[in-house]
Amino acid sequence: MEGMDFYLYGSRCCPLLEYLGAEFVARLDAYPFEQMKRMSDKRQEWDANWKLALEAFIEGYHLQGLHPQLIPLADTYRTQRDVFPNGHSASISRFLIPSEQYAHRLNAKITDEHNLFMREAGIDPVTFQGGPADVREAIIKSKRANAKTAGYDFSMFDDEQLIDDWTVKLFPSCTFNTHPEGVLVQRWLPHPTDPEKLTYISQIWALPGRELPSYMGIPSDADRSGKSIRKPVYLDKNDLESLGPVISQDASTMPKIQKRLRSDGFKGSIYSEQEILIRQFYAEYERYVSLED
Ligand SMILES: [Fe+2]
Repeated sequence: MEGMDFYLYGSRCCPLLEYLGAEFVARLDAYPFEQMKRMSDKRQEWDANWKLALEAFIEGYHLQGLHPQLIPLADTYRTQRDVFPNGHSASISRFLIPSEQYAHRLNAKITDEHNLFMREAGIDPVTFQGGPADVREAIIKSKRANAKTAGYDFSMFDDEQLIDDWTVKLFPSCTFNTHPEGVLVQRWLPHPTDPEKLTYISQIWALPGRELPSYMGIPSDADRSGKSIRKPVYLDKNDLESLGPVISQDASTMPKIQKRLRSDGFKGSIYSEQEILIRQFYAEYERYVSLED
């Protein structure tokens, strides 16, 4: 966690490492945060409560309904979900492979996205001999083989960390989508007076001076040398396009769900086993709000 500052507005405080816990911090040990530079910083007001938005970013199964374009690319069925003390959590979803309930319905063919990720890993899709199920392994091998030339040191990372999406959540409302090349940091901050509004903050921190994967979504005009740090860009509320194709789908849906919470028919949420990270979040949240100052 070196290279980042953390602050707390409040009187109840303890040392950061004690708050995060050794086991949780170990999950982040391999990532060279101290070398990363901020290359994107987008902020926008959303018409939703911050907890509602957070829910959508700590579970992955909504992908099949809201982000159908990602169905061939992420296994959200067999996601590993880990809970840690003090409300922190982590989830790992396999990338470039569909959930098994979709595998037999999809044509077993290499998609444009497979080709893109192969090219970025140094594989020529034209001469690639395998099928879509072989792409993950090929990319992992190629990334390892080309790491030194590309200026990366992947020796601290497991194979899965070179390709999968690791979402690490710091309680209460910060997630790190970690990759060896960089990290997407997202936050959902409560509005000071209106519980049905929040400020969404999305930042990309990445290793400067190297080729960076396109899935990181670094703006085309970002200074990839790392010499100038990206300043925050405050997006107009109606500017969904600047959020990118995936987050814009989340952002446009959020206010609709917020409105539905006011329906007479809504008596409260029932969370399934699959939603253990949301259940853990609310258990910790309830513990906090029940504490006396
Ligand atoms: Fe989403």
